[in-house]
Amino acid sequence: MAKKFDVVVIGAGPGGYIAAIRAAQLGMSVACIDAWATADGKPAPGGTCTNVGCIPSKALLQSSEHYHQVNSSFADHGIKVKGVDLDLDKLLGRKDTVVTQNNQGILYLFKKNKVTFFHGTGSFVAQVDGGWSLKVSGNAEEDLIAKHVIIATGSSPRALPKLPFDEERVLSNDGALRIPEVPAKLGVIGAGAIGLEMASVWSRLGAQVTVLEALPDFLAVVDQQVAKEAQKALAKQGLTIHTGVKTGEIKVGKKGVTVPYTDSAGAEQTLKVDRLIVSIGRVPNVEGLGVETVGLKTDERGFIVVDDDCKTNLPNVWAVGDVVRGPMLAHKAEAEGVAVAEIIAGQHGNVNYDLIPSVIYTSPEVAWVGKTEQQLKSEGRKYNAGTFPFMANGRARALGDTTGFVKILADAGTDEVLGVHIVGPTASELIAEAVAIMEFRGASEDIARICHAHPTLSEAMKEAALAVSNRTLNF
Ligand code: FAD
Ligand code: NAI
Repeated sequence: MAKKFDVVVIGAGPGGYIAAIRAAQLGMSVACIDAWATADGKPAPGGTCTNVGCIPSKALLQSSEHYHQVNSSFADHGIKVKGVDLDLDKLLGRKDTVVTQNNQGILYLFKKNKVTFFHGTGSFVAQVDGGWSLKVSGNAEEDLIAKHVIIATGSSPRALPKLPFDEERVLSNDGALRIPEVPAKLGVIGAGAIGLEMASVWSRLGAQVTVLEALPDFLAVVDQQVAKEAQKALAKQGLTIHTGVKTGEIKVGKKGVTVPYTDSAGAEQTLKVDRLIVSIGRVPNVEGLGVETVGLKTDERGFIVVDDDCKTNLPNVWAVGDVVRGPMLAHKAEAEGVAVAEIIAGQHGNVNYDLIPSVIYTSPEVAWVGKTEQQLKSEGRKYNAGTFPFMANGRARALGDTTGFVKILADAGTDEVLGVHIVGPTASELIAEAVAIMEFRGASEDIARICHAHPTLSEAMKEAALAVSNRTLNF
């Protein structure tokens, strides 16, 4: 006998598990199906984000940053440390513990919110009276009937043609998070978010890292003033980054990987590394869902086609997160999950796609929201820009971390904030103020008049807002 639910969510990543919780909060009967399993076969809800994405990468970034600081900046604070040793097994083990705590946290939240969890693969069977018939296969074999289905199946790493991931020498984000010893030489293809974060981790732990990027500009989507500052800082840390390269046929041997490439000047080069991370974007997960069985529409790149409300071409079938258009970010997936649950409940769920912040967790961190200067120029929009360097911020000096700046772009006529771009310490936290102001369509004058605690890095935000009208107080 099929079990009946108001809502069945397929996938328990940040899009899916949050949608399930919100739907349950709104009084619906909800089930969530997720296939992810630990090495010993136990459920591991949380998706890419929790298992091989946001959470483990930030755990490694934190540990490697500590290690790097002991060896580099502690001496500046008058702290002499002798005999610093790296226990990589422990460092990786700590990351695994953080992941498990998050998996357990989601199982607890499901219980608390009365979401029924099925560990297995979910697929469509047919449209039936009263909704959709679904099958769960794997650990728990079940037949379900759902009035509404929310697809939140996420994405997987894209491989280079003829270079499958073996997670030994050729690593996706998964293998990159569990290299068993620090490689002497590490190659990274793709200078995007994963490439730069993973390059930072292993470089801080002692690897000599070379990053090869196809596009001529470093971080092409980022405000270029910010991108240049970030590139300078990363190079100073020892990362070698070549942009505008074209890789040739990559050879994988028992001991290493050989990457022939043409550099931006057209010269032939060869990079020999112990291991190679390939981080060139991700592809949506639709295989095994039964897309063809029910006629669910996907686009030419495999993404499920949805409208602004995340509605698919099928009645009462919704899709959120990495499996649909838009940035592949956990908070975007979550926002869509909440919005869909609220729309199903008859409320006005909505996502403001213009104000989804982006962060790259390198050191310095890079964070931004809204339009870049190059976008405003190409739109022909008149704007004023204000920047403030962390070098002139008292707290940054006390921290010993003065790289970077805050940059605010505001409409020349109305002063409405159009974009905020930060490269520097805790940029990931500082950007939240910008998002809040921009959600309320605030002006740079609003930020400038808010009292910011002293001494804090957030004062750089206030000063950058003052800089928009050329009246910084501390620079
Ligand atoms: P996912 O998290 O991919 O979850 C989908 C789930 O569905 C998985 O558990 C999968 O097993 C399951 N599934 C798939 N098909 C089926 C099926 N048929 N039946 C049952 N279950 C199924 N984003 C940020 O915002 N900040 C970050 O710092 C950040 N860091 C990242 C670092 C790395 C290394 C990577 C790879 C990604 C990072 N991301 C980050 C991106 C973020 O992880 C994704 O945007 C986010 O996980 C997408 O959420 P989702 O719910 O759409 O899908
Ligand atoms: P990405 O899209 O961020 O970067 C991929 C990079 O690879 C691009 O710069 C692209 O130009 C380059 N590239 C593509 N093909 C290439 C080739 N053949 N040779 C050389 N370079 C090539 O993708 P990435 O880093 O794989 O991350 C996937 C997703 O995960 C991203 O969409 C990102 O949003 C998300 N993510 C987010 C993080 C965060 O929010 N901090 C951290 C890590 C991932």
